[in-house]
Amino acid sequence: MSTSFHHSRGRFIAFEGGEGAGKSTQVRTIVSRLRDRGLEVVQTREPGGSPGAEALRNLLVTGDAGRWSPMSELLMMYAARSDHLEKIIRPALDRGAWVVCDRFADSSRAYQGAGGGVGPYFIEAVDAAVVADTQPDLVVVMDMPVEAGLKRAASRGDTENRFESKGAAFHERLRDGFLRRAAAVPGRYRVIDADRTIEAIAADIWTALAEAFPELSHGG
Ligand SMILES: Nc1ncnc2c1ncn2[C@@H]1O[C@H](COP(=O)(O)OP(=O)(O)O)[C@@H](O)[C@H]1O
Ligand SMILES: [Mg+2]
Repeated sequence: MSTSFHHSRGRFIAFEGGEGAGKSTQVRTIVSRLRDRGLEVVQTREPGGSPGAEALRNLLVTGDAGRWSPMSELLMMYAARSDHLEKIIRPALDRGAWVVCDRFADSSRAYQGAGGGVGPYFIEAVDAAVVADTQPDLVVVMDMPVEAGLKRAASRGDTENRFESKGAAFHERLRDGFLRRAAAVPGRYRVIDADRTIEAIAADIWTALAEAFPELSHGG
């Protein structure tokens, strides 16, 4: 799986999964390991990642669960993603950097699609227009039981908990959505058992990267 889907020289890795699965924890580790190799790495996240998209993030992740309908969310998420791609991701890939993104388009497929009921044909049409050929080269899906993940997320005690506050059934649909997406596009996806120690997970993720990007195994 060494093919680059976008037109550029960089590498694009996305981390996906439910609340508390350890995405942000593992992103930090992988970014520092890549930087230790002397690579230029842009660590970023969604929703957000550019100033305009971060302003939208604040509207999306705070407040009451019912504040936005799934359709409004989907359009706001893709408005934010469009700005993030234009201002941060594509310029980084164009100059050959590695981009490591904490959540990307599969979170829209899961949260607004599988979880919220927005139709897949509509999501794919918007994705084709906004993300187009800037698809991730590798998607790491962090998978674990919903309840344990929500418990971890709650232990953070932050205020960005609008999605956490949706019910258990919603989070089960998300988990299923991520796994079905990974099964449907197997070449670019790695599902990681996230219900283990931070160190064991980090080792598996590094192995997945080394398989996906053979250049990591050469020298450096
Ligand atoms: N493998 C793990 N085992 C136990 N706790 C973890 C693990 N990974 C992360 N955590 C903790 O769980 C919480 C959620 O992790 P985080 O990386 O923020 O998850 P996410 O970004 O997927 O929501 C944090 O407090 C983090 O320190
Ligand atoms: Mg996180």
